Amino acid sequence: MTVWGAAAVDEAAGAGVVHVGARDVVTPLARERARELGVEIVVGSPTALVSPAALPTAGPPLATRPLPDPASVSARPGSAPRPVRPPSGALFRRGAPLAPSSGRPSPRRGSAADGRGGRVARVGRVVVVGAGNVGMIAAMRLADADTFDEVVLVDIDEGRAAGIALDLSHTAALSGFTTRVRGVGTVEEAGHAAYVVLTAGRPRTPGMSRSDLIATNAEIVGDVAARVARTSPDAVIVVVTNPLDEMTQHAWVSSGFPPQRVVGMAGVLDTARFQALASLAGAGAADGVAAWALGSHGEEMVIPLSQATAGGRPILERVGPADLDAAVDRARGSGAEVVGLLRSGSAFMAPGMSAARMVLAMVADRGDVMPAAVLADGSYGIRDVYVGLPARLGRGGVLGIVELDLRPAELAALREAAERIRERLGALT
Ligand code: NAI
Ligand code: 2OP
Repeated sequence: MTVWGAAAVDEAAGAGVVHVGARDVVTPLARERARELGVEIVVGSPTALVSPAALPTAGPPLATRPLPDPASVSARPGSAPRPVRPPSGALFRRGAPLAPSSGRPSPRRGSAADGRGGRVARVGRVVVVGAGNVGMIAAMRLADADTFDEVVLVDIDEGRAAGIALDLSHTAALSGFTTRVRGVGTVEEAGHAAYVVLTAGRPRTPGMSRSDLIATNAEIVGDVAARVARTSPDAVIVVVTNPLDEMTQHAWVSSGFPPQRVVGMAGVLDTARFQALASLAGAGAADGVAAWALGSHGEEMVIPLSQATAGGRPILERVGPADLDAAVDRARGSGAEVVGLLRSGSAFMAPGMSAARMVLAMVADRGDVMPAAVLADGSYGIRDVYVGLPARLGRGGVLGIVELDLRPAELAALREAAERIRERLGALT
């Protein structure tokens, strides 16, 4: 299996076509670049043409396992199976409307930009809970994408939510979007949402670990998730609040949603950090680096170098192992590095953009595979705990977990990460 990144598309620009194998993975950025350059992505030999639209981001032979029947999964390790409503079948039908009933914003006629050069059917409303630094950037990207009828910011500091929303709405002509933007004090005032980005909570201060935030943020996340479940029972929740893996599982339990519709954002950010750092180490352009940041959003982050490529070639052919190990270590510590420099608050630009990217990938419904905190289903020998794994995303949330061919040490590190998260969840209980 080869991972085709944007750099490989650049190299093929003259020929106008890239031939990829049926088992290969084409990164979302590579698809975007191909669209920009008018390069056709063709599966198979030069004579066996297949429409690019038929090519999934990760080829079918990469085993994608649908998440388990929610009713058969324990809410917490060791606890009895809990009844969970099965996911709405409609959510898993490609192109099914997400806000179908009356009283909700109806999708506009026609299509809208997906923020990455493509067109998607317009979706009703996305709600960003927490109009702080991360929420603000996520809302900006979501409005810019011009994909939703409305972006609503929610914050207990209602004035802040309203102020950021007003300011953002003033950029409509500058960015060229028609999405309405509103700021309110409660999830209920926001109204029904197709997607909810949950950033409410406290950020880290210098010297504070993500886990130090657990008690404070669990209260906030639990309350918000329960309110979302009442207001938007068919929404997909993208959790950002730290500690990420634990808060995502907590939001899942508190919402009563099936696991497909509660997913955590950290891997997209941590991968972007590694891509930037690998680029600095000589791997070429950051968007030509393909990698997966898995495990926990913290000390147990796992970036399997066996799966990392630069310009479509194994990254170890371009950068020495010591430099790559240093890039992995620095990616793992990047959050703390930014906190230390800012002295107040934590990183928000890359985090906000990463959360928006996940939402837009789901709306676009291309089946993009991204690293995300998902409920492990037995893949990688891990079960019943939220941990960072490669997940295939669609309109209804997580379509399944993709199994990479990890080396034994990488697999062991991933399992170890899951066990540490499980322990911390035990402390939360
Ligand atoms: P921030 O302090 O700028 O914003 C948080 C906002 O949440 C504040 O405006 C606050 O008033 C609001 N809030 C608190 N309780 C609320 C409630 N019950 N309902 C609605 N709003 C509420 O913090 P920032 O920088 O935006 O970070 C947000 C969270 O995201 C933090 O927990 C942070 O650690 C986490 N984070 C996670 C990342 C990840 O990769 N998963 C990356 C960066 C931050
Ligand atoms: C980050 O990684 C603090 O989790 C946040 O920047």
